[in-house]
Amino acid sequence: VVDIRKLYGQTGMFTYDPGFMATAACESAITYIDGDKGQLLYRGYPIDQLATNCDFLSVAYLIMNGELPSPDQKRDFDNLVTHHTLVHEQMHTFLQGFRRDAHPMAVLTGLVGALSAFYHDSTDITNPRHREVSAIRLIAKLPTLVAMAYKHSLGQPFIYPQNDLSYTGNFLRMMFATPCDDYQVNDVVERALDRIFILHADHEQNASTSTVRLCGSSGTNPFAAIAAGVACLWGPAHGGANEACLNMLESIQAQGGVAKVGEFMEKVKDKNSGVRLMGFGHRVYKNYDPRAKLMQETCREVLGALGLENDPLFKLAMELERIALEDKYFVDRKLYPNVDFYSGIVQRAIGIPTSLFTAIFALARTVGWIAQWNEMLSDPDYKIGRPRQLYTGAAVRNVK
Ligand code: ACO
Repeated sequence: VVDIRKLYGQTGMFTYDPGFMATAACESAITYIDGDKGQLLYRGYPIDQLATNCDFLSVAYLIMNGELPSPDQKRDFDNLVTHHTLVHEQMHTFLQGFRRDAHPMAVLTGLVGALSAFYHDSTDITNPRHREVSAIRLIAKLPTLVAMAYKHSLGQPFIYPQNDLSYTGNFLRMMFATPCDDYQVNDVVERALDRIFILHADHEQNASTSTVRLCGSSGTNPFAAIAAGVACLWGPAHGGANEACLNMLESIQAQGGVAKVGEFMEKVKDKNSGVRLMGFGHRVYKNYDPRAKLMQETCREVLGALGLENDPLFKLAMELERIALEDKYFVDRKLYPNVDFYSGIVQRAIGIPTSLFTAIFALARTVGWIAQWNEMLSDPDYKIGRPRQLYTGAAVRNVK
């Protein structure tokens, strides 16, 4: 804390907190994290209860509205989301402009931003009804856009949504069906992916959510604000960690697998190597991330159901975790597996390519982003976000 009077001749206190380690930027009633206990609650409900007893759209409804839906509310909400799954045909033309080998997050950032050019009937951000329509549109269309980006990368025709399937079943079909072969949704796979969506739906004021709030605080178009969140999520220290984690596991596997774990861990502990154990550590959790426990459980279920019990990457991940949890370096720094440590193994088993992992995360996190954006705009006293700085440049001087 710096006395602002000395800095700028103003009254009041000025906090300098790089990385926002100890500064709350808003009030929120959506998600609670106790990092020391390893506890995560959405609207007061523990994440393990939601992941075990609810589907993703029920959790989306909860995050957006504060309560779990009654059966009638759930039916209406599912129908509403289903009604909005199509995107404008001109979005396909826009997609054709991207290189086939573009990263899906580059494509998704563009596609989500482009939605802002199509929906002019719901952009009055002061109108709660408009905000709700934008929220539903985003939740409904994200799976369609992610599947479109995937099909584009393959050079395959796009598969249109089939609205008698569940949210997650429909997404799987849009991803994996072709005009030649229909795709039968596997119940275990559908449940596992739905759980991945639930575990990623919100996580209070992480970097991408803070980005959405800051961007949205200027009153910008909601689709543009969510596109900013997608862009932020892409980074390897945030949502890109699941992709980086699977690449890490594959690289250790290629160099000899479990036998090479000790050598790899020595590199991680050597500060000069620049190597981190991806999928480990968290700004808030200083205990086991509860999502990682659920993800490990889901990993076992999916690999078992698909006959992949001996998956070498799962064995490798378990061995890395075992060693890390006993190692002084990790114990002293309270580094535990985070949600990304096991989610890549599940997604790989389902057939999702590594480069699409972060886009799947974005699909799920859209619920949290839009709920947090709506919460901010519902506050009659909300202000545009405008961080201050600690100026370290030249003092005033004259051009000679
Ligand atoms: N491997 C090795 N060492 C680590 C790791 C790791 N994964 N994470 C943190 N450390 C070490 C740091 O080197 C530092 O050591 P030091 O005190 O000796 O300098 C100490 O632990 C604290 O780390 P910071 O980077 O200061 O912690 P911060 O809270 O800023 O970073 C982060 C958190 C970015 C998640 C970090 O742990 C990391 O890079 N993890 C790997 C990437 C990852 O898995 N990200 C996903 C996060 S979850 C999500 O976004 C869904």
